[in-house]
Amino acid sequence: MEFNQEVKLATDPIYKKISKVMPEIEWAVHAPYIHKINKLKKEKNAVILAHNYQTPEIYHGIADFSADSLALAVEASKTSADIIVMAGVHFMAETAKLMSPNKKVLLPDMKAGCSLSSSITGKDVRLLKEKYPGVPVVSYVNTSADVKAETDVCCTSANAVKIVKSLGVKKVIFLPDDYLAKYVASQTDVEIISWKGICIVHDQFNENEIKNIRKNNPGIKIIAHPECPPEVIRASDFAGSTSGMINYVKDNQPKKVMMVTECSMSDNIQVENPNVEFIRPCNMCPHMKKITLPKILDCLENETGEIIMDQETIEKARLSVEKMVAIGR
Ligand code: 13P
Ligand code: SF4
Repeated sequence: MEFNQEVKLATDPIYKKISKVMPEIEWAVHAPYIHKINKLKKEKNAVILAHNYQTPEIYHGIADFSADSLALAVEASKTSADIIVMAGVHFMAETAKLMSPNKKVLLPDMKAGCSLSSSITGKDVRLLKEKYPGVPVVSYVNTSADVKAETDVCCTSANAVKIVKSLGVKKVIFLPDDYLAKYVASQTDVEIISWKGICIVHDQFNENEIKNIRKNNPGIKIIAHPECPPEVIRASDFAGSTSGMINYVKDNQPKKVMMVTECSMSDNIQVENPNVEFIRPCNMCPHMKKITLPKILDCLENETGEIIMDQETIEKARLSVEKMVAIGR
């Protein structure tokens, strides 16, 4: 693919926006893909939904909508496009399909999974329900459709506390993120039965690292994702979903900030927050990073990577996501 005059003219405005986080030599590789994908999207009436952890060339170059998992699920239910390409991981594409069952939903790499989602199956949930009869099940959206089908109500990191409180019960089964379960327990009086799932990205952060960053950067604001270990959250100034973290930076404009999460977050939002200095010990999600421009182009051109689910699973799983969306943020 060639970086010719047509590509340059069409993509220059995007590059101007992101030049601070991407060297020109790298842009010459991405730009032809960006141009081709953006043209193809229009021809096919397709929409690209991207999670906040996607790389800047995807987030700023081709995404029609970039957000956290809750907003991606809502957007999938509203779009008038014929095809949804999910630039994210498998559970996000499945959730989009649940919300828009009549649309073609494509995932550019079927191996883009999630350590939380793969930690639990529908059968595990059925066994838990046998063990704790009558206790409602709240599942994180980072789960398979099979797990969602056994779930009373889903939640994301943006609304986990609100969802659990909304049930008005004394005890809930909260799956599968053990750290998020602890975070919810710390914010409510509800007894939480949890599962030992972890996010391999956020589990790598530790309290000492946070304390050292604070010592070496006086005045820094440290903001963490609730999938981090509880002591990391306690050592931080704010915890929230990926979009919650982005809004914190936009609204507070701290001089220096560390986002205790996946690496692309700081790159993506540096663009709109030029006066904020991002201190970047961060960790990469190997699943999110499986999604690349060449794979997105291939999937859109050949309509590969389609999410297929049986009708019964769709019906059952959708209810738990719809309940969550109705409760909101
Ligand atoms: P958000 O819902 O905060 O976007 O998080 C999704 C995720 O996978 C974080 O690791
Ligand atoms: Fe899953 Fe963690 Fe990657 Fe998010 S960052 S997709 S929770 S493995």
